Amino acid sequence: MRIVLLTGPGGDAQGWGDMKVTESIREAAESLGYPARIAYVAEEADFFRLIDRPDFDIVWSALYHITPNEKFIGRNAAGTWVADELDARRIPYIGSDSRTMKAMIDKYQTHEILAAGGVAVPAHVLVRTGDDVTPVTYPAFVKPICESRSVGISDESVVHNEEELRRRVAYIEGEFDQPALVEEFLPGDEYTALVLGNGETRECLPGLVSVEDRHYKNYRILRTDLRGVGLTRISLAGERTEEARRLTDRAAEAMGCLDNVRIDMRVDAAGRLRIIEVNGIPGLKPHKSWAPQIYTLYHASPLGEDEDYRRLIGAIVESARRRYGL
Ligand SMILES: Nc1ncnc2c1ncn2[C@@H]1O[C@H](COP(=O)(O)OP(=O)(O)OP(=O)(O)O)[C@@H](O)[C@H]1O
Ligand SMILES: [Mg+2]
Repeated sequence: MRIVLLTGPGGDAQGWGDMKVTESIREAAESLGYPARIAYVAEEADFFRLIDRPDFDIVWSALYHITPNEKFIGRNAAGTWVADELDARRIPYIGSDSRTMKAMIDKYQTHEILAAGGVAVPAHVLVRTGDDVTPVTYPAFVKPICESRSVGISDESVVHNEEELRRRVAYIEGEFDQPALVEEFLPGDEYTALVLGNGETRECLPGLVSVEDRHYKNYRILRTDLRGVGLTRISLAGERTEEARRLTDRAAEAMGCLDNVRIDMRVDAAGRLRIIEVNGIPGLKPHKSWAPQIYTLYHASPLGEDEDYRRLIGAIVESARRRYGL
């Protein structure tokens, strides 16, 4: 099974990481016996050249959509979405289908689908400048609807009245050209679960995310400046393990996730876990991203972290291979 690893300028902001990470995935796949190559698509024409005459069996994409934007994901509503184009050509790909990918990238849509499926999410509203905000209760948490890596998140994300809320919504619109998702502030601990496989064989592996208290300012939240700099720690989820497993399994089912996602949760004021988002293309930086760290917590091999990483990559690829019967 020949794999093409699709990435481009948006690979770090949207997907598993930069070119070095992509190269690590390629090496891991090759060492497992899958011929793998990297296709860097700088623009739509490159992408169409690749998929119009496929010389591979399956695509694994770091990109939701094709964009020159390196800084943040963006909505790109009218743009070219990778999974849409692959579906149109019946090309197999690793990961969730187009409908689910689009639902995951939009945190409001994710919340609506999960809430309809009876899965616990924070109280939430979508807000644009000028909208009625009387349903919002304070403190509230304001964030872009479709970003990642804590882009747009700082202590100013926590707002206590309408004036602060409107100021933050204007900031999100101006900076990221997207509406704001306003959620109930969840004051408790933060967890994230690596989700692998499908249906009966789906595995949900939760971990506690922590940062030393001295790095926080006013709130125990993962600000953008705390991300990607080696300050977050992942440990087993302790007595939250079963609750987190059940919750994330139901969330993955309700969303229709395939092969590999990472689901973030926080504890609400009443002490219950709530889903804050489902990441469709989790970070895969060897030994640094949360997904490989969690995999090692649960499945450490005597051969060490490099071997754990290979097995994680193998589990994701195998999951898709089985689905397609390749
Ligand atoms: N309702 C909330 N209450 C309190 N803190 C929150 C809330 N929502 C998000 N946060 C904080 O903001 C951070 C970023 O939020 P979220 O996980 O939704 O966005 P993200 O940037 O997409 O994350 P990722 O990098 O995991 O894709 C969270 O890790 C959490 O610390
Ligand atoms: Mg998150």
